[in-house]
Amino acid sequence: MNSSSASSSAPSLFSRLSSPADRLGFGAMQLPGRWAGPAVERATAVAVARRAVELGARHIDTAAFYFSATERANDILREALHPYPDVTIATKVGPLRTATGEMYAEARPEQLRGLVEENLRQLGIDALDLVYLRVGRLKAVGAVPLGERFAVLAALREEGLVRRLGVSNVSAEQLAEARAIAPVEAVQNRFGVLDQADGALVDECAGAGIAYMPFFALGGGHTDLESGNLRTVAERHGATAHQIALAWGLARSPAIVQIPGTSSLTHLEENMAAARIALDEDDLALLEPVAD
Ligand SMILES: NC(=O)c1ccc[n+]([C@@H]2O[C@H](COP(=O)([O-])OP(=O)(O)OC[C@H]3O[C@@H](n4cnc5c(N)ncnc54)[C@H](OP(=O)(O)O)[C@@H]3O)[C@@H](O)[C@H]2O)c1
Repeated sequence: MNSSSASSSAPSLFSRLSSPADRLGFGAMQLPGRWAGPAVERATAVAVARRAVELGARHIDTAAFYFSATERANDILREALHPYPDVTIATKVGPLRTATGEMYAEARPEQLRGLVEENLRQLGIDALDLVYLRVGRLKAVGAVPLGERFAVLAALREEGLVRRLGVSNVSAEQLAEARAIAPVEAVQNRFGVLDQADGALVDECAGAGIAYMPFFALGGGHTDLESGNLRTVAERHGATAHQIALAWGLARSPAIVQIPGTSSLTHLEENMAAARIALDEDDLALLEPVAD
């Protein structure tokens, strides 16, 4: 998708990514390996990124702040995919990380241009397809409201450094605050079959033609998916629970674009096949959240 000119008349992400296959993308956060965990071989990480696109991923989620002691997600994507034909690369700016990996603060407005330029340099392109302002939960936010920071990204979009804007880790009120400043094409919040608290915002995005890219659709690797009703539905379909978790999101809303993360070719093949799983009403009823 990367050419040098920014375009405001291009179809929205929501309308570009419409079929279940188009709405199954890839998250690059696992590619550099975890800070404290085992390193991922560069060749393996590059192969996973390339295979994701071969298997049909049209949307890849990354950030300059996705790095381990030895690797950066953006460098891996650049080696694997530059100049990124037929794929949208989404990046995020907001959190600041120390060189030793600790997220310590949210960027102030005057730091955001530098962070956008860092992503441009690392990815080797003139304009970013989609940039999220990622907010929330970090200390030292100070008194800078979301709107003041989002306005900086809106100005960078006017300048042509960014084509589309998104917001991440936001409430409905924060989404409205951003939309009052500039069009928001994507929201990236935590949401998944086992974590459906953000459902009202998913529906709001669908109604407004905004793509919703859930993170931790597979529980972030911290949750056991292979039990309970997820396991039952998986057995019905001869699938894995991870595949059902992804298929569930695709069925849950036309706004949802999945961005599962993996550094494993085997898991990638499994995840990308989830777009072919059609869940029926009985499956979906089983996967509804249990009331407290
Ligand atoms: N905006 C934000 O605040 C935010 C926060 C977190 C993440 N994100 C974005 O969301 C994307 C997804 O998040 P995530 O990667 O942390 O979580 P995730 O997609 O929910 O889960 C990834 C974890 O699941 C494992 N996994 C993946 N496929 C599997 C399979 N088929 N079977 C068994 N295990 C499997 C991965 O391990 P293996 O590598 O071994 O497969 C990894 O540990 C990230 O890449 C990133 O782009 C955004």
